[in-house]
Amino acid sequence: MAESWDVVVNGDCLEVMAGLEPESVDLIFADPPYWMRTSGELQRVEGTVFDGVDDAWDQFNELEDYERFTREWLSACRRVLKPNGSIWVIGGMQCIHTIGAIMQELGFWIVNDVVWRKSNPTPNFHGTRLTNSHETLIWATKSKDSKYTFNYKTARELNTDTVSPADYEAGVRKQMGSIWTFPVCAGTERLRDASGKKLHSTQKPLALLLRVVAISSHYGDLVLDPFGGTMTTGVAAKILGRRYLMIEQDPAYCDAGVARLAMTAPEDGPVARATYDERPPRAPMASMIAEGFFTTGEPFYLRDGREIATLLADGKLSFEGEAFDMHMLAAKVRGVKATRLNGFDVWRVKRNGELVPITRIRDEYRASLAALVD
Ligand SMILES: C[S@@+](CC[C@H](N)C(=O)[O-])C[C@H]1O[C@@H](n2cnc3c(N)ncnc32)[C@H](O)[C@@H]1O
Repeated sequence: MAESWDVVVNGDCLEVMAGLEPESVDLIFADPPYWMRTSGELQRVEGTVFDGVDDAWDQFNELEDYERFTREWLSACRRVLKPNGSIWVIGGMQCIHTIGAIMQELGFWIVNDVVWRKSNPTPNFHGTRLTNSHETLIWATKSKDSKYTFNYKTARELNTDTVSPADYEAGVRKQMGSIWTFPVCAGTERLRDASGKKLHSTQKPLALLLRVVAISSHYGDLVLDPFGGTMTTGVAAKILGRRYLMIEQDPAYCDAGVARLAMTAPEDGPVARATYDERPPRAPMASMIAEGFFTTGEPFYLRDGREIATLLADGKLSFEGEAFDMHMLAAKVRGVKATRLNGFDVWRVKRNGELVPITRIRDEYRASLAALVD
């Protein structure tokens, strides 16, 4: 298959993936048939009919058929996934245990399972069991040793699950957890046919896909979805500046998805580029001294104004006649159990008579480096 990306391919995913180069894909998101096994008409309590999942593409005769199908498409995904790529698979209680077992049988390494908690789940109309209010996403790599992408700080930035809106506004950020809360796809986001009926019974919320793509791939990476549906994955990839290859067997879904993608504009910015995760340039003390940001022999102080040490030419600190690494000396003079503390948080120098944290001087040095690049 000619490899020009940002495409929707109408076809069977096994056939299409067989034509792809091995180890050519950075990220796979798969939302396969769940084999829901619904039977009969589902009625709401007030008597109206619920439009559930009874599509032809979701039918299998028995567990062995579903297992065979799952093994085939997961094996195909494994072949095309890069050694350091990631695969995410979403499923409900009907299928996720089968899928997870087969993923492990094929050698995938599970990084996380994420619960998508639905803030507006469909109730259990008959009151015969708990409301099924979540789905599970399995995030896996090809092996335990895969050096997969995880934009950790971008994930912190996107975490609104465990930070209140007021705290978030005030700048509070927390590590992203494995329970994500989003509403099911509804309103204007939901694609509808000419009669106003849902175009697809299992269209996923875009917010869910934006999160997956943002945290586990890089700008420009290739994202594959073997079960494209309404092309939600492609839309997330396009918004975040990734390339996409979407496969879907139903031509009507392909047409609707292509139109949806055409109306989607990229949104370049720190989330798309994961700039939160960029490492700042190195700033060795010796270089900062050489560039005049610090002076050999100048005193180093603690926050309370006590003068403790003096700076040596190699960036170490002289204390009671001995040379110390500044992080180790920070721990020593603070009297903590740890052998090292971050010296940039501890030490102060004087500038224009005022005590200034040395981390601020380092920021100024880095800003000067950035200005040189610009
Ligand atoms: C659960 S839906 C995916 C929905 C999609 N994530 C979205 O947000 O719209 C599964 C899709 O896979 C498609 N499908 C099922 N078997 C397939 C196959 N062998 N090859 C390609 N597409 C397939 C179905 O037509 C259906 O649209």
